Amino acid sequence: MTEHHRPLFGSRIGAILAAVGSAVGLGNIWKFPYEAGQNGGSAFLLVYLACVLFLGVPVMLAEFFMGRHTRQGAVGAYRRLGIGSPWGYAGYLGVLGAFLILGYYSVVAGWTAEYLCQSASELMCGTQEFKSPERFAAEFDAFITSPVRPILWTVLVLGLSFAAISFGVKHGIELSAKIMMPMLFFLMIILCVRAMTLPGAAEGLRFFLLPDFSKFGSRTVLSAMGQAFFSLSIGMGCMVTYASYFERSTNMQATACSVAAIDTLVAFMAGLVIFPAVFSFGIAPEHGPTLVFVTLPNVFQQMPLGAVWSTAFFLLLVIAAITSLISLYEVATAYLTDEFHWGRLPAAAAVGGGILFFAVFCSLSCGVLNDFKILGLTIFDALDSLTNRVLMPLGGVLVCLFVGWRIDRRILKAELTNKGSVPFHFFRCYAFFLRYVAPIAITLILLDQLNLFR
Ligand code: TRP
Repeated sequence: MTEHHRPLFGSRIGAILAAVGSAVGLGNIWKFPYEAGQNGGSAFLLVYLACVLFLGVPVMLAEFFMGRHTRQGAVGAYRRLGIGSPWGYAGYLGVLGAFLILGYYSVVAGWTAEYLCQSASELMCGTQEFKSPERFAAEFDAFITSPVRPILWTVLVLGLSFAAISFGVKHGIELSAKIMMPMLFFLMIILCVRAMTLPGAAEGLRFFLLPDFSKFGSRTVLSAMGQAFFSLSIGMGCMVTYASYFERSTNMQATACSVAAIDTLVAFMAGLVIFPAVFSFGIAPEHGPTLVFVTLPNVFQQMPLGAVWSTAFFLLLVIAAITSLISLYEVATAYLTDEFHWGRLPAAAAVGGGILFFAVFCSLSCGVLNDFKILGLTIFDALDSLTNRVLMPLGGVLVCLFVGWRIDRRILKAELTNKGSVPFHFFRCYAFFLRYVAPIAITLILLDQLNLFR
């Protein structure tokens, strides 16, 4: 597709908000707090910050380069820049990865919609029966194992994403981010203030902010890096695709830094909401994936005006999930529109159908299909592990090696500085990082993930 026919984001702020919409998702609000909770609170936070700064930002910038320079999605960008070499295939990894992530991401997004609906109806009816902690766990379990209800919610969130995608880059993706992201920040700030003013909040802040190095180990580093990649939406061609819609005048260095900073801020704020709230009611924070669905509802019910807070929280979660879902959805849609010149609507419909197929199995694997195991994991866990532990780091290494070694430095520099109009003071340092430091660091972590060091 030529420059003139490529749809573009309409404004600088729109481009940043769309990328932030992709980055800020369930990863920040659902995964980050429980990963931090399980890996020693602020020790995890420190390592996480280092991973974002030294691995996340450089990889994101490399993805931005690929997308805007070629004006293509993941597959087209690798193919065009790696002409005549097997590099062309690396882009398929991104499309495949995005598709597999969507399989379970859309299911969890559906769960958040169910919880929003429950909280909102409690708020509206004004009745709230008191439930024991076990009851919350049992209800969550009953919900995710049921064969129909979670799938209906998944269909709903996918339908909303489909709508946004089919309205196009500017009127769908950008506009939805422009509406939803400010709402998200607003809700986040209110929830932060509420949580930090609860009696006993300091205990939670201490847990989150004072490092506990006794829990520090190689797992901490691994989880932090995996989390940084997931949270910044890198390694799967998502930022390549979004950058292909950037204006030539977009300052990509500033955009990458802003996206990483805002994403990290939102994850940090999610910690500031969750830990004070959890500690304030004397509940243990190490609950893993059920933290927001089981532990938090129990916390909300003990707060005055609990239904208000839980509705706000789940609305926040739904918004975060949908804007990220849209970005993953766009990776696969752009593949069909770029490579096969399909129209946006049929492409989006075909991708939606494909995702739904995976998502149904994924959802059923929490219940009826629970005994069906791939390498000892349910379909849901297998998709999560495969994408997080293997495909995302692998995608990250490939981007670094490709841009670091294969691309002419002058071309890279011209693109990242908008032909010299934006200074890039640390360019040499950056190029060195892309060539050596980042690929080696990510490979070590990848090998460790595959248990090769144990
Ligand atoms: N970053 C999102 C989150 O934090 C998830 C996500 C969106 C993603 N697009 C991605 C993860 C691409 C990896 C690759 O929830």
